[in-house]
Amino acid sequence: MNEKKIAIMGLGYVGLPLAVKLSSNFEVKGFDISNKRITDLKKGVDETLEVTSSQLKNALKKKLQITNNLNDISDCNIFIATVPTPIDKNNNPDFKPLLDVCKKISKFLKKGDIVVFESTVYPGATEEICAKELEKNKNLLKSGVDFFLGYSPERVNPGDKKRTIDKINKVISGQNKKVELVLYEIYSKLTTGEIFLAKNIKVAEASKVIENAQRDINIAFINEVAKICSNLNISIYDVLDASNTKWNFLPFLPGLVGGHCIGVDPYYLSHKAKMLKVNPEVILSGRRTNDNMPKFIFKQIQKRLKNKAKILFLGITFKEDVPDLRNSKAIELLNYFKNSKFNISINDPFIANNSHIKYNDLMVKSFDAIILTVPHTFYKTKFSHIKQLLKKDGILFDIKGIFRNKTIEKYWSL
Ligand SMILES: NC(=O)c1ccc[n+]([C@@H]2O[C@H](COP(=O)([O-])OP(=O)(O)OC[C@H]3O[C@@H](n4cnc5c(N)ncnc54)[C@H](O)[C@@H]3O)[C@@H](O)[C@H]2O)c1
Repeated sequence: MNEKKIAIMGLGYVGLPLAVKLSSNFEVKGFDISNKRITDLKKGVDETLEVTSSQLKNALKKKLQITNNLNDISDCNIFIATVPTPIDKNNNPDFKPLLDVCKKISKFLKKGDIVVFESTVYPGATEEICAKELEKNKNLLKSGVDFFLGYSPERVNPGDKKRTIDKINKVISGQNKKVELVLYEIYSKLTTGEIFLAKNIKVAEASKVIENAQRDINIAFINEVAKICSNLNISIYDVLDASNTKWNFLPFLPGLVGGHCIGVDPYYLSHKAKMLKVNPEVILSGRRTNDNMPKFIFKQIQKRLKNKAKILFLGITFKEDVPDLRNSKAIELLNYFKNSKFNISINDPFIANNSHIKYNDLMVKSFDAIILTVPHTFYKTKFSHIKQLLKKDGILFDIKGIFRNKTIEKYWSL
């Protein structure tokens, strides 16, 4: 395979930066089913804010083509799937986007082609689920014989401008040595970080899903400790400050675990565990603890406020410095308040919404309470101003405790 023509299937948080970066070295076709996304990207607009307009426009002038016409990928010989892997309402893996993308790719599969998956799945999914769908191609090509599979989990951290995909270590895996070599060649052009060759595809799949499950469980433990501290009338941050002085104490913080990775991927792992008759007790208990946090925080805040209190919510995205609202626990918390007798205003610099109040329009001394739910960098520099927005007896609920060392009369944090 001398000339590599790469199709990136799904141009979201993962697919777009990958397509842009790989197009510095390879001919890349970026495909997405969302017409809006394609129209925006062709104009140089990335709503996810992961790629700047000039990076996108430069790539489009060179080796990147953005398309929603499936025929445009027909001459590609490497297909990289970066579609969502959500869960359904019963917290079971929803493979619809992945199966759909396999169906699309299978139409164009030729002998020797490579299909790589970057979407997070459970160990075994690439070879057990995706391969079957890909093998339904009209030429009846067989995986591992006629075309080949690879898996390279994505670790990008949206909103993080330091650990970008061109710097972080990348795990790769392939069905045979040849695929491993091709993936090494491609991904070593993507990142200056280390390329780690996993033993096989299942190992690479497992490595990704346990990274996120481990994070979820660690945060769940600290969230449970936060509840204990709250009943002890001590601050978890004071406790963590002390514990962190030990060499092997892990520095996790309490908080809301939302989004479509940490709050979702453990369910992929637990699903596979159940298929294997292993009871995923720890994994699911961590999920339960983290999923209960919005309710716990609501109760803590509610008991400190009077009915009809005027409350300002700062931040509603699923985490800091991203415009992503998917599975946002800040919104879940907000909904508890909306269903109660409070008077709510919302501000989030990342979300354009006519019913939200613009930061510059916020009036001083107008709120009984401010709930700093998502401490975007924007808010971190505005402590004095945020304080002025409170009425005389107003209270700041600083969920992540970022202002805990500042002077303010009425203050609560986890
Ligand atoms: N966002 C992250 O932080 C992150 C990090 C690591 C791994 N991941 C994993 O990467 C995968 C993609 O996540 P994401 O955040 O980029 O999702 P996303 O929702 O931002 O983007 C997915 C894109 O795929 C498109 N799409 C959906 N179905 C399609 C189909 N059948 N054919 C072509 N395009 C299709 C959507 O229109 C969307 O633009 C998921 O498995 C996720 O768990 C995400």
